[in-house]
Amino acid sequence: MKGIVLAGGRGTRLYPLTVSVSKQLLPIYDKPLIYYPLSVLLLAGIREILIISTPEDLPSYQRLFGDGSRLGIRMEYQVQETPRGLADAFILGESFIGGDDVCLVLGDNLFYGQGLSSMLAKAIRECRGATIFGCPVADPSHFGVVEIDLNGEVRSLEEKPQKPRSRYAVPGLYFYQNDVVKLAKQVRPSPRGELEITAINETYRQQGRLQVAKMGRGMIWLDTGTPQTMLQAGCFVEAVQSKLGLYIACLEEIAWRRGFIGDKELYEAGKRLEMTDYGRYLLRLLQEERPQ
Ligand code: DAU
Repeated sequence: MKGIVLAGGRGTRLYPLTVSVSKQLLPIYDKPLIYYPLSVLLLAGIREILIISTPEDLPSYQRLFGDGSRLGIRMEYQVQETPRGLADAFILGESFIGGDDVCLVLGDNLFYGQGLSSMLAKAIRECRGATIFGCPVADPSHFGVVEIDLNGEVRSLEEKPQKPRSRYAVPGLYFYQNDVVKLAKQVRPSPRGELEITAINETYRQQGRLQVAKMGRGMIWLDTGTPQTMLQAGCFVEAVQSKLGLYIACLEEIAWRRGFIGDKELYEAGKRLEMTDYGRYLLRLLQEERPQ
């Protein structure tokens, strides 16, 4: 399975913050926002990853991650000239995806909770078409909304409905079989002018090939589209990290635990960042879990 992080868009709801800086590079407490969705792909065991962003911003991501080898992964980059919609990711990513299945994560979504890794593993194992998630939220009308019947089947899907039929929003994390590329090319622009991911999911639903997994109370999903939600996410990360002494979305740690990199690479990453709590955290992992 391959992974795509969609990190373009104009970020207009965050102006003036995002006039000259890509939204997904803004800090969520101690890391760039993109670390959080990227960590989900690494947790899912995905090692071939495409980052899509604007022509102006893509070089910044290349500076940040290079070819990915420091994390034991392979990173590719693709320009999106204009924000045509989420489904565009599969059209732009066609040659990167090749004959594989693919997971798309939005560059501004943050997931955290017990059981996240096993939820991802199950989604990959059981994907027969498309797998999406349903997460209860207070105001679903800002999101894609999924209505699930008592048997766990998807009854309806709607993009930002004025009158939502359920409390379950669809977060920006999607697993697809390879035919998503073909389906993405058939999507026509919505009334808001975008190639909607919801249109792709609706096609899978009509074919009886859409699964939905509910995220329960133990899972937190934060979308960081506004200054308020960015601050909430930052406060959440700070609270968890300082209380538990465990980092959220520490890419080197995940890569090390997944066996993508070894002790030597983790040590080098820790040394490079030794002047920060982040770097010292990496070195502490080695001391505590690989005592000499
Ligand atoms: O966050 C989850 C929601 O994301 C879903 O519930 C919705 O179904 C889905 O349509 C999407 O809704 P948004 O309106 O929040 O998407 P937004 O336009 O904010 O884009 C999400 C991210 O993708 C954002 O970081 C910018 C990036 N993006 C967006 C578009 C449209 C791109 O990189 N390229 C694009 O063309």
